[in-house]
Amino acid sequence: MRETILILDFGSQYTQLIARRIREAQVYCEIHPFFMSMDRIRALAPQGIVLSGGHQSVYDSNAPEPDPAVFDLGIPVLGICYGLQYMAHRFGGHVQQASRREYGPALLTCAHDAASDPLMAALFGDTATATVWMSHGDQVSRLPESFRCLASSDNAPVAAWVEPQRRWYGVQFHPEVHHTPRGSQLLHAFVRQVCHCHGLWTPEHFIEHSLARLQQQVGTERVLLALSGGVDSAVTAALLHRAIGAQLTCIFVDNGLLRLHEGDEVMATLAHNMGVQVERINAGELFLDRLRGVTDPEQKRRIIGHTFIEIFEEAAQRLTGIAWLAQGTIYPDVIESAGSHTGVATNIKSHHNVGGLPERMQLKLLEPLRELFKDEVRQVGLSLGLPPEMIFRHPFPGPGLGVRILGEVKQDYADLLRQADAIYLAELRQAGLYERIAQAFAVFLPVKSVGVMGDGRSYQYVVALRAVESSDYMTASCYPIPHDLLARIANRIINEVDGINRVTYDITSKPPGTIEWE
Ligand code: XMP
Repeated sequence: MRETILILDFGSQYTQLIARRIREAQVYCEIHPFFMSMDRIRALAPQGIVLSGGHQSVYDSNAPEPDPAVFDLGIPVLGICYGLQYMAHRFGGHVQQASRREYGPALLTCAHDAASDPLMAALFGDTATATVWMSHGDQVSRLPESFRCLASSDNAPVAAWVEPQRRWYGVQFHPEVHHTPRGSQLLHAFVRQVCHCHGLWTPEHFIEHSLARLQQQVGTERVLLALSGGVDSAVTAALLHRAIGAQLTCIFVDNGLLRLHEGDEVMATLAHNMGVQVERINAGELFLDRLRGVTDPEQKRRIIGHTFIEIFEEAAQRLTGIAWLAQGTIYPDVIESAGSHTGVATNIKSHHNVGGLPERMQLKLLEPLRELFKDEVRQVGLSLGLPPEMIFRHPFPGPGLGVRILGEVKQDYADLLRQADAIYLAELRQAGLYERIAQAFAVFLPVKSVGVMGDGRSYQYVVALRAVESSDYMTASCYPIPHDLLARIANRIINEVDGINRVTYDITSKPPGTIEWE
């Protein structure tokens, strides 16, 4: 049996984080829009429900409301922020606008009779106060009769409450964000102690469950998968290979714009070591040919995307008897494409959906990782025996070096960039910084500058180094690589890469910059 926690989303920017924290407590959970029907909720058979935050007030004329029957299921409910206010309001309490909006850290005090409550014990540990992260305009000013206040802050007299008979909880703060240091313990206590989930959601459990499901789904049919060299498609390949062996065929289009030795590494790991059937198509020349003279970044992206689809489709048509197209879609793609309020899982992000191929080729879509967050994909990959270097690799854009060579893409530019990039990444690994940086890479600038090398004057190209810290790649800041390390990297690149005589370091944040240069 699968244990599930249902998260009903009221539009908070933090809803995904709630899911991640619950998964970290090894409990499976799903996010659905707040208006999910009771039939679907009953079919999911959750052990508990979390109502997320949201930006509205319970007094707004169009304030979002779940089906009231969710409160008759007899299972624990945890309301966070808007969720707390909604439940207090619905069951006869009073919610009002706080004298001042509260945004940021707050110090919470535990009610004198609440220390033994499992959620409060988890939040306060041995201390009398707990730091939490608040973000609200309304607050509960009077609780419904059977509700009990568990904690308060200066600005929020009811910062947490419980309805002990029905095992309902409400917290005004956000336990899911890192700024609430013991927030994950609170969520852990809710799902494990209050909802009595056992913590069955582990990589091994997922793999075991998926193998049976994939075997049943696919039967004796054949499956096609596009390998990109990235983590998601590699893990999809490894999982499918274990489930259906030779019924899986992968196509790996090498567009000539990969990092140094990347294509060979993909082949070595998946094809040679694991025995996955992979057809590698070396199409670097065709890509470069099509990119000749093109300088506009978006046009370059389009050309690379279309050429990929063309080659993939051509290769796929040579194969007979394929019934399924597998894709490395992961849970954030599913949530993002559903939109937090439409409730309909529509399109998968375009770069995951290989150009509408499933419909055109009349293939059924297989997405074995669509329930997993990125960190869970990595854990599953490790459990399947993929090497850590592949699993923990920084993200790499689909158009590859095509968007890291500014302007026109040329073979010799790509060769120079690959060498510089490899030196840079090797030095970061050596210094133990690679894992601490979200994304690092070199960028080729097609301008020449003057230098002195030995006794002579040089006139060669420039590369820029980029390294960013980021948790979601939506915002990012420059990673502060120590100057002496930067100097060593620059020195090595200039000495070892014939054609580059200047190295600069990009310190731009996102926004206003982007992570990639094009
Ligand atoms: P930006 O440059 O927009 O990048 O700050 C954010 C993240 O997205 C990656 N990226 C891409 N990935 N196709 C992709 O598959 C693309 O065209 C693309 N452009 C940017 C980028 O590497 C970073 O991780």
